Amino acid sequence: MNMMTNQTKATDEVKTAAAGIQDVVLGEDRVDVSEKMMINAKADVNQLIPFKYQWAWDKYIDGCKNHWMPNEVDMTKDINLWRSADGLTPQEKKIIEMNLGFFSTADSLVANNLVLAIYRHVTNPECRQYLLRQAFEEALHTHSYQHIVQSLGLDEAKIFNMYREIPSVAAKANWALPFTRSLADTEFSTGSVSSNQRFLRDLIVFYLIFEGIFFYVGFVQILSMGRRNKMTATSEQFQYILRDESMHLNFGVDMINQIIAENPDVWTDSFKEEVRSLIRQGVDLEYQYAIDTMEDGILGLNSKMFREYLEIIANRRLKQIGLEPEYDEHTNPFPWMSELMDLRKEKNFFETRVTEYQTGGALSWDE
Ligand SMILES: [Fe+2]
Ligand SMILES: [Fe+2]
Repeated sequence: MNMMTNQTKATDEVKTAAAGIQDVVLGEDRVDVSEKMMINAKADVNQLIPFKYQWAWDKYIDGCKNHWMPNEVDMTKDINLWRSADGLTPQEKKIIEMNLGFFSTADSLVANNLVLAIYRHVTNPECRQYLLRQAFEEALHTHSYQHIVQSLGLDEAKIFNMYREIPSVAAKANWALPFTRSLADTEFSTGSVSSNQRFLRDLIVFYLIFEGIFFYVGFVQILSMGRRNKMTATSEQFQYILRDESMHLNFGVDMINQIIAENPDVWTDSFKEEVRSLIRQGVDLEYQYAIDTMEDGILGLNSKMFREYLEIIANRRLKQIGLEPEYDEHTNPFPWMSELMDLRKEKNFFETRVTEYQTGGALSWDE
């Protein structure tokens, strides 16, 4: 009994130290950079420098450079179009409403996962600095949906309840939520192979699948509308959100790969197979969402194009964490999207956008 109590106490001490809320000990050894680790670090998580992961700090700085505020985007043109009798077809209005319905709660689910599940287990301060920036960006995205929904005078209850009332929206949320709950459990801590895998599984689900696959049908649909000069203020905000989300995804990829490099025993064949299975499930859920949100032919889009596009980005996600492709190769049906998100062009994309934002101009559309 006594031994049990001592063990519990020791585990609790490890957990509070990992979270950074342990007592301050006067004269304790200074931080040794070699002891800094992504998870299960011995080094004090409250001391930002010396840096170990320069990439994490660089991404935090890049995120700050891309700062934007939803309420700075003037919604007048969209409001006029939405209200005019022959402005938009019922199908086009449905696409706007369905995507606002999905995204308006999806960003809350991502934010919850960050602050209630991931944050306390990441034992590196430069990564935590990025996570805090990301959490604020998720709040800005939710702010953006509020700005659009209220400017257009949409039925707020209808939009914000879609994740409880529309099956394909509910399915994506319900698929991801158990992974957040798994880490939010106060009894949970990393440290063993299976618990490290549990943590990694949540990172893969949220960064690679939720933010890396579940957002992309909506991005294509809304940005297609913008490219046809419809709902351009809404589209402009989605383009800023896409830019933020590409950063989140890339940060997630770096975190996942760094954790695997530091804990190679987690990267077993059966775990890799599980990851592939999760990605396949993500593609199927997102494809179902694509079918539910639109009829073939609208905006020049059809379901086959979405299936192929999802398979392309799923293969890309697998490649980003060192895994072989799952699907046959296709020609990208939305090459203009790859202008925005293709990793090889990422640098140009961000440099261009950063300059445009900093000079106060609106984003221009890639044709
Ligand atoms: Fe977001
Ligand atoms: Fe995000």
